[in-house]
Amino acid sequence: MSREIYLDHAATSWPKPDVVLEAIRDFLENAGGNTGRSGHRRSIASSRAVSLARERLTDLLGAESPDNLVFTKNATEALNLAIYGLAVPGARIVTTSLEHNSVMRPLRELERQGRCSVEVVSVDGNSGELDLDEWAALLGAGKPCLAVAIHASNVTGVLLPIPAMAAIAADRGVPFIVDASQTAGYVPFALSGLGASAVAMPGHKGLLGPSGTGLLYLAPGVEVDPLIRGGTGSQSELEVQPDFAPDRYESGTLNAMGIVGLGAAAEHLREAGLDRIHASSTSLGRRLRDALAGTAGITVHGPDDPAGGVGIVSVSIEGVPCATAARLLDDESRIMTRAGLHCAPAAHRSLGTAPEGTLRLSWGLETTEHDIDVAVEALRAIGERGRSGEPLRTVA
Ligand SMILES: Cc1ncc(COP(=O)(O)O)c(C=O)c1O
Repeated sequence: MSREIYLDHAATSWPKPDVVLEAIRDFLENAGGNTGRSGHRRSIASSRAVSLARERLTDLLGAESPDNLVFTKNATEALNLAIYGLAVPGARIVTTSLEHNSVMRPLRELERQGRCSVEVVSVDGNSGELDLDEWAALLGAGKPCLAVAIHASNVTGVLLPIPAMAAIAADRGVPFIVDASQTAGYVPFALSGLGASAVAMPGHKGLLGPSGTGLLYLAPGVEVDPLIRGGTGSQSELEVQPDFAPDRYESGTLNAMGIVGLGAAAEHLREAGLDRIHASSTSLGRRLRDALAGTAGITVHGPDDPAGGVGIVSVSIEGVPCATAARLLDDESRIMTRAGLHCAPAAHRSLGTAPEGTLRLSWGLETTEHDIDVAVEALRAIGERGRSGEPLRTVA
């Protein structure tokens, strides 16, 4: 039987490195107390393990200090914390047409409540280009303002010009939130050099941690209201929330085993080198693009030069609904992809692929050239069936 080919890393990465599994097991066996709560050895061992994970992530991601990293349960929670924290009443929020619903839904909710207004700058989903003059004009148009942008599209993988956007935001004194869900662990960048006030990311995608992990980076001096309040194990004599990070934002028992797994993954990534990871992902992207270029009936959405993106492309296949293509790939070739809108309906509107969406292929650290070649062959075969008019078992 052919081997499984996992091309859904943009949803969550798989497999996790062995060191992640080992670290979780080791934590549960040898630590396992509640972090920061009790004075006994298992509690102390757990606190140390979580601190080590925070330090490793600080090193990998280039934050100023471990206190600038807040653990969350996913990127969505990190984004909500940043958005609700930084959107002052009456603010105009400027964002892009490529955002994920974990940005758009909180923004639309703030708008629905009459607390903020939302303005969307259109971005080309293939090239990542946006009109920086328009961005600058909107950020300079008075009233308290907040800017939010995705680092790389989860539909096409294209990178946005975040440094230029951040420089404009800084120049206008506008707080800037970056959604690094598809770049953290894949693209070499230092949080301290990104120019953002806050950067949200999952732990379970490129950072190779387990599900139930995420991070919010808050730049030095940036303080927001916590989303929830409660026990932190620190300043227990006070009935009010601690005023220092990260405790202020981390109420309740932490997902310590997940965090410890994430910390082990960070060390694994640091050893592998993000430069090398990005270069190898780009080369797989080029192989895929080159192989599919000119294939009748198959359209590839994403940057022409894969160096301008991350390990994601979307494809449309003439005569084959994307959900059918995903099902055929899984059933017949054990290739796992994702079909649909990928929680980013506006991105599909700007690509012209709404309402059906696309078939998304996203690769990761363990993906080989052979995997890409097998996927290309399978896509071509499905494309030919679509063009020949052969009846396909469609997916409802
Ligand atoms: C761009 C983007 N933002 C946010 C998210 C939400 O991530 P999570 O599922 O960790 O909340 C995703 C997940 O697919 C994403 O691709």
